[in-house]
Amino acid sequence: MVASVRWMVTGSAGMLGTDAVQLLRDAGHEVVAHTRESLDLSDAAAVGVAVEGVDVVLHCAAWTAVDDAETEEAAALEANAVLPAILAAAAHGAGARMVQVSTDYVFAGDATQPYAEDAPTAPRSAYGRTKAAGEEAVRAALPEAHLIVRTAWLYGAHGPCFPRTIARAAAERGALSVVSDQVGQPTWTVDVVDLVERLVTAGAPAGTYHATSSGQTSWFGFAQAVVASAGMDPAIVSPCDTAAFPRPAPRPAYSVLGHDALMRAGVEPIGDWAERWDVASAVVV
Ligand SMILES: NC(=O)c1ccc[n+]([C@@H]2O[C@H](COP(=O)([O-])OP(=O)(O)OC[C@H]3O[C@@H](n4cnc5c(N)ncnc54)[C@H](OP(=O)(O)O)[C@@H]3O)[C@@H](O)[C@H]2O)c1
Repeated sequence: MVASVRWMVTGSAGMLGTDAVQLLRDAGHEVVAHTRESLDLSDAAAVGVAVEGVDVVLHCAAWTAVDDAETEEAAALEANAVLPAILAAAAHGAGARMVQVSTDYVFAGDATQPYAEDAPTAPRSAYGRTKAAGEEAVRAALPEAHLIVRTAWLYGAHGPCFPRTIARAAAERGALSVVSDQVGQPTWTVDVVDLVERLVTAGAPAGTYHATSSGQTSWFGFAQAVVASAGMDPAIVSPCDTAAFPRPAPRPAYSVLGHDALMRAGVEPIGDWAERWDVASAVVV
């Protein structure tokens, strides 16, 4: 039996945080869950007290409004880099490890082969810049005890996400256009939590890891899978270009992340996105 670990989860009411608290408890761990209301992450003294006795801080709280960050970058930076720095300093003081959840948006998105964990970051959006700054802050404060875990195209049962939006739109409208010129790896929150738990249990070395499904598809391909799993004809989804849906923040065209660091640590990457969607669809939409 795996030894119980005392976890602290921030952002515990968010899409990833909700599953993290539930799944870690189900796995037999002790979990202290914090929302915005229960702990002010900008209060270093309060954070220091909260982290006492904790083995692993899983930091799921973040500014995730990608488009709003374009006009509110200072506030997004505070949430995505200053608060992680405070948490990391507290984790250092408590002798805890810290998992900083990050994103594919730290990359430019113009590659043609999967991004390695140590590929240069070059964010194109304000959100990506703030998340890259958060990674750096946590690495600096916890050189021996950080796990930067980048995920992407995340979906789950406890928040608004692409498959839930698509399933609803398909049922209401009967036909929809979805961009086919952005590719990535649809990834289930449950799989991210499971991977984080396996990384910690394995005693993986400090470093950067990619918590995305294997394989790749476009948003169009993912939408077709979502529609099919809802019992509708995937042909009601038609492809279009990103230019058809202009947004304030640029989206990475290529968001495929490689998993070599996981393999080196002896930790199995998440399975193929389509196989994982087959399992997840029953609980997500
Ligand atoms: N969703 C994706 O597709 C995706 C992709 C790649 C990476 N990620 C990363 O995955 C992580 C989890 O994302 P998610 O999808 O679960 O996001 P989410 O559903 O938006 O949850 C984020 C949580 O953080 C809380 N929060 C925000 N600012 C806070 C603050 N200053 N103090 C305390 N709590 C605060 C939010 O509370 P309020 O609701 O009260 O604001 C919310 O409960 C984030 O690090 C995100 O950058 C997400």
